[in-house]
Amino acid sequence: MTAEKVDLRGAAATLLLTLYMRAWDARQRNPILGDRYAVEVMERIDVDRRLLFLASGDASAVTCRARTLDGWTREFLAAHPDDAQVLHLGCGLDSRPLRVEVPESCRWLDVDQPEVIDLRRRLYALPDHVETIPSSVSDDGWWSHVATDRPTLAIAEGLFMYVPGGDVHRAVDRLTDTASEGELAFDAVAPWTVFASGMAPSFRTAGARFRWSWDGTDFAKRHPRLWEVDDVSVYDMAAISEPRVYLRPLLSLAGLVPAMRDSMRLHRFRFSGITS
Ligand SMILES: C[S@@+](CC[C@H](N)C(=O)[O-])C[C@H]1O[C@@H](n2cnc3c(N)ncnc32)[C@H](O)[C@@H]1O
Repeated sequence: MTAEKVDLRGAAATLLLTLYMRAWDARQRNPILGDRYAVEVMERIDVDRRLLFLASGDASAVTCRARTLDGWTREFLAAHPDDAQVLHLGCGLDSRPLRVEVPESCRWLDVDQPEVIDLRRRLYALPDHVETIPSSVSDDGWWSHVATDRPTLAIAEGLFMYVPGGDVHRAVDRLTDTASEGELAFDAVAPWTVFASGMAPSFRTAGARFRWSWDGTDFAKRHPRLWEVDDVSVYDMAAISEPRVYLRPLLSLAGLVPAMRDSMRLHRFRFSGITS
């Protein structure tokens, strides 16, 4: 079978980095995530290898992040077995709906830019109850697909840092205004990484860079209806889970530096549509 040529640019191209890292992890003796779908998809596509060069260095962070979000997704599905709705924002070529085995009672929406959704539809056989929506999260139109009467989990993995801050806050407001109750789970990067992303070779090759970084005080002020239930350092998780055991002491030592420890954090918030 001829491999499918994939030529993405900008933020869309970064999905190839995370896909490659999940496939790399799955090939390790003791994988963190063990995403076999990533291996299968990597084998079916033909991509610019220069983009992937050095990418395995962040594989433990990317797979720890995905493993935690899979866990939070499973918890949400278990808490709402009959009527959950999941908005998988900036889904890229991530196999999460297959990994968590979305039950038929759940409404699941995969949302990403049109060229990505086009590729996703060609590369994955997703069940009928998984809907794929070609749209930027910054656009308003796609919210008409979202049911208002279901407990809703929005997951934004590796997404918000590529989106202008105003659009991030607008999407969060749309979520809490649209769904009756639910959760929002996302990772956010430290301000210094916005500058560093402009220097990283793989990002330069992709033509991508970060645009939004975390400011907890500002976020709390803008979104008073959300309450935080988890705030986890992705760096710390990766340091203790790194499959190359010889790297663990070095990573743990570097993690004593707050800028490293907080370079990327995972946040989980809850909300209820009932306003006082
Ligand atoms: C680093 S990748 C992460 C993909 C996937 N979540 C994963 O973990 O593999 C960033 C993803 O965000 C998507 N993205 C960037 N800006 C977006 C936007 N405005 N609307 C929707 N998706 C966007 C890209 O197309 C890409 O799929």
